[in-house]
Amino acid sequence: MNRLENKVAVVTGAAQGIGAAYARGMAIEGASVVVADVSDTGSVVEEILAAGGKAIGVNTDVTNDESLAEMVATTEDKLGPIEILINNAAIFASIKLKPFMQIDNDELDAVLRVNARGPFQATKAVVPSMRKNGRGKIINISSGTFLRGAPMFCHYVASKGAVVGQTRALARELGGDNILVNCIMVGLTESEGVASNTQFDAARGGNLAARIIQRDMLPEDLLGTIYYLASEDSDFVSGQCFNVDGGAISA
Ligand SMILES: NC(=O)c1ccc[n+]([C@@H]2O[C@H](COP(=O)([O-])OP(=O)(O)OC[C@H]3O[C@@H](n4cnc5c(N)ncnc54)[C@H](O)[C@@H]3O)[C@@H](O)[C@H]2O)c1
Repeated sequence: MNRLENKVAVVTGAAQGIGAAYARGMAIEGASVVVADVSDTGSVVEEILAAGGKAIGVNTDVTNDESLAEMVATTEDKLGPIEILINNAAIFASIKLKPFMQIDNDELDAVLRVNARGPFQATKAVVPSMRKNGRGKIINISSGTFLRGAPMFCHYVASKGAVVGQTRALARELGGDNILVNCIMVGLTESEGVASNTQFDAARGGNLAARIIQRDMLPEDLLGTIYYLASEDSDFVSGQCFNVDGGAISA
């Protein structure tokens, strides 16, 4: 408990699913959490406050620089400088699986815009606040699909590869500012979007069969790694990717 006391943490895409679990978990560990999403953040914020945690909700579009600047200004005003950023927002569960020959340029651009450009823009917006703070932890959310190359999902897999590239390049660039950048490669996880979507049934069976730990992966299974990467425990770790998937892929 209290591993993240006195730290201000922004979680993008935290209105639901895995991002909401990160926000709830970090609040339990004492962080003041900014629930940042294009969707309504009210219920996640209420839940955190009702449990005695600290949180604010800020309507934020990670593809819009003005929206991000407003989010940072509101955060600094209400909570202080930002120490932790989780780049979690993405287009994921709503993507229809299809052969790459049927993915048109507009659909490709839409996925890359949010999933690859979004973390880049959010990081640009937040780094000045981390510099003021004198330290920062950026946790980028990639996917195990980049390690194994999931078919019918080429635009998404490419977007999550871009997240790995940003992690490695920015870790080198920001280390001198005491801003550490790492990445989690997430296995198939039963977020609302996955649990309610039958197109993931085949992938679920395959993932389960491949796992060392023979059960479904839940959003809470990621929290231990989040606490490690967000806290002082990882103060000598940067530019790394952590594969959290119950042992489905040995990377
Ligand atoms: N669930 C899985 O199996 C799985 C596996 C690997 C990686 N991931 C990654 O984990 C993260 C969360 O996954 P999830 O299953 O909870 O996804 P989700 O689709 O349920 O949630 C994504 C969230 O991002 C928000 N969002 C979308 N566009 C946005 C924008 N422009 N600005 C701000 N917010 C925006 C959505 O409103 C939503 O709340 C994503 O990055 C996803 O790619 C998930």
